Amino acid sequence: MDLEPKRTPAGWRAAAWSRAVRPGRFTRALLDGRPLLLGRSKAGAAYALSDLCPHRGAALSTGRARVEPDGRESVECPYHLWRFTHDGACVAIPGREAAPGVRAPSWPLTERDGRVWIWTRAGPPRGEPPQGKPAPWLAQLLGRPPSS
Ligand code: FES
Repeated sequence: MDLEPKRTPAGWRAAAWSRAVRPGRFTRALLDGRPLLLGRSKAGAAYALSDLCPHRGAALSTGRARVEPDGRESVECPYHLWRFTHDGACVAIPGREAAPGVRAPSWPLTERDGRVWIWTRAGPPRGEPPQGKPAPWLAQLLGRPPSS
């Protein structure tokens, strides 16, 4: 199945319905076989992280949303409780004073026409995802949109 039809600018991939991505909880998605965690900040900004913790590979999406003492929001891994900001920076490791320069991979995204689009190429996003109703193949891939 062609997942990137010619009218879709190369690099943008629809990962989920926007309504499925809510503050305080995580949505899982698969993109080219890679597990992603999709989340939304309290202010409403969506974000995408690898769903594999860079420490030992636990699913970050089974962890919980936290707020750091400095006010930044983070994702806490359920296994050893390392915490990552929404751009992937490791900001806390229990029992240690400082987090090393560890990062969970993150992806730029945008939202358009009720869908979360992930930029899958290296470098800054180019162009825009397509507008309009999703093609039947995409609606099938994402499933039914959740009710609001
Ligand atoms: S596997 Fe995530 S903190 Fe260890």
